[in-house]
Amino acid sequence: MQLENKVAVVTGSSSGIGRSIALAFAREGAAVTVDYRGHPDEAKKVAEEVEGSGGRALVVRADVSKPEDVEGLIRETAREFGRLDIMVNNAGIEEKMPFLETPFEVYERVLAVNLGGAWLGCQEAARRMVEQGEGGRIINVSSVHEERPMPDNSPYCAAKGGLRMLMRTIAVELAPHGITVNNIAPGAIETPINENLNENPEQMEELLSEIPLGRMGRPEEVAELALYLASGAASYVTGSTFYIDGGMMRQAGSL
Ligand code: BGC
Repeated sequence: MQLENKVAVVTGSSSGIGRSIALAFAREGAAVTVDYRGHPDEAKKVAEEVEGSGGRALVVRADVSKPEDVEGLIRETAREFGRLDIMVNNAGIEEKMPFLETPFEVYERVLAVNLGGAWLGCQEAARRMVEQGEGGRIINVSSVHEERPMPDNSPYCAAKGGLRMLMRTIAVELAPHGITVNNIAPGAIETPINENLNENPEQMEELLSEIPLGRMGRPEEVAELALYLASGAASYVTGSTFYIDGGMMRQAGSL
């Protein structure tokens, strides 16, 4: 077991990539806090799955865009499990629309969750880890769109671009404390955020044509990368973004 005696928080883990990360961490022995905002039943199910296979799980409702909620998330975790070793800032939302038609409120909402939420998660977790004095791991679930433009998705791209530099900057700042910070940048993964594509065959075809491996990824595949970054195997890894995208970032646009 790679994460024995470790304690992890995974934001947005009632579904999608976050859920898979929580399950993978628990499988490897970590106690896991399952954070959710809108779907308590799904979060409870994830926790039951963890407990069903002999793991430890705690369910906490926290809207990551609210400082007091994130503070509570870390506090509750430490109260239940005694410490915090691994923080995964995964919660994210997406609202696609042309830039010229995007209301400022949409920009604010998307930035507040995708960048503000990660900022708060990084800060609260790092404060706790520094206090513990034994280092720690911070993993942000970013996107290929921390680097790759996506028309009609400007707030999301702005947030993920910001997350890239947040990670790079605090990786340097937190290194003296033995805390590593890295980003995972998934491409198109089969999760609720991409569900609308199933009703839109044309868009789906266009998307698949941009993926050299010719298929979407599975949340479990992303979870294996998160597990690596959280494990002892990644002790010398910090300040980097890891793409997991079926080759999307290398697509030459020749189709
Ligand atoms: C976005 C998806 C998009 C994928 C690949 C993800 O970050 O959430 O909407 O399909 O990147 O472009």
